Amino acid sequence: MRKLIPLLSLALASAAFAQKFDGLAATPPMGWNTWNTFACDISEALIKETAEAMIASGMRDAGYVYVVLDDCWMVKERDPDGDLVGDPAKFPSGMKALGDFLHGKGLKFGIYNCAGTKTCAGYPGGRGHEYQDARLYASWGVDYLKYDWCSTGTANAQETYKTMRDALHAAGRPIIFSMCEWGTAEPWKWAADVAHLWRTTGDIIDCYDCITGWSTGWKVILDKQVELAKYAGPDHWNDPDMMEVGNEGLTFAESRAHFSLWCMLAAPLIAGNDVRKMTSEIRALLTNREAIAIDQDPLGKQGTRFYIGGGREIWTKELSNGEWAVCMLNTGDAPADLAIEWERMHYFMRGQYSVSDIWKGAAAGDTKKPLTVRLDSHDVVLLRLKPLK
Ligand code: GLA
Repeated sequence: MRKLIPLLSLALASAAFAQKFDGLAATPPMGWNTWNTFACDISEALIKETAEAMIASGMRDAGYVYVVLDDCWMVKERDPDGDLVGDPAKFPSGMKALGDFLHGKGLKFGIYNCAGTKTCAGYPGGRGHEYQDARLYASWGVDYLKYDWCSTGTANAQETYKTMRDALHAAGRPIIFSMCEWGTAEPWKWAADVAHLWRTTGDIIDCYDCITGWSTGWKVILDKQVELAKYAGPDHWNDPDMMEVGNEGLTFAESRAHFSLWCMLAAPLIAGNDVRKMTSEIRALLTNREAIAIDQDPLGKQGTRFYIGGGREIWTKELSNGEWAVCMLNTGDAPADLAIEWERMHYFMRGQYSVSDIWKGAAAGDTKKPLTVRLDSHDVVLLRLKPLK
């Protein structure tokens, strides 16, 4: 028995570490990530210029605070102590200095690695180095870790991600844990106590609904979120991938619809455009407080697809204080007059509501009579409903 007691306390102590940091993502995380626009072409100058642009554009103050370095920030080998090394050609001041710079600007520092032996771009992965890497990230002031799933062989996703969760917790610095397992092992069913967010699909690219092998447009990803709403909530979000808003392959309407629907999904809002060069229309889109408030609503409910047909989709999202968000998408190839028949929603909405049109910034009547709007191809109307007194 005497021998058992220390063993028992050890087991209890490690059980106490086996948890994620709570409360870091009460609402979906917001920020910017290098990958969608820059892939491996990243540098300290890019990060610093982007940080300045996020401040000047109002993005930081609208809530986009995590600046995340995706793949390719390292050199190809660990150092003799087994530590990861930031590429000195890309980040001459070092990773700790970069974290300090971001913190000094009121931003947070995000970084990427992979659960396998190598990252997707072939840099050293985290497998077998979880605790060592977690301590290193903590020492650099990292606030957010995106953890990918390349080169994992036959590894079990649940066990592998739990190991990294425990390593981060043991390192002691609160770090948002963003799983990038692409939905293969259905993480929505088991990852609520493992990560703050988990990818649900393969990679996004900047088109409406194209499919290029592993990568697809945002509409294809949207369709895969339909059944997942019930799994999301504060501190455990479905992640339909970083945004392509403002990127070349989308029309302005498609960017606006993409952003609106990511807000309806309570998706993490991680911008993926070149914020140093975005147009004023894209800046206004990404920083629209009313749209962001739908995404960030404290109730933390992911929206669902209420209706599909007649060249349109209608999505609804329950908000706090008895309010609702409603978004209608024109899925057709031409402009169309499309209607929302409010009475069809009366079995889950109670009473009548006033309606405001977020992109017009104007009132749009109430739910006593149907709303018909003219929408361009792949454009949306995004509405907020408040109970009428
Ligand atoms: C995977 C991820 C992407 C990106 C790349 C980097 O494809 O899903 O989001 O991180 O790896 O190599």
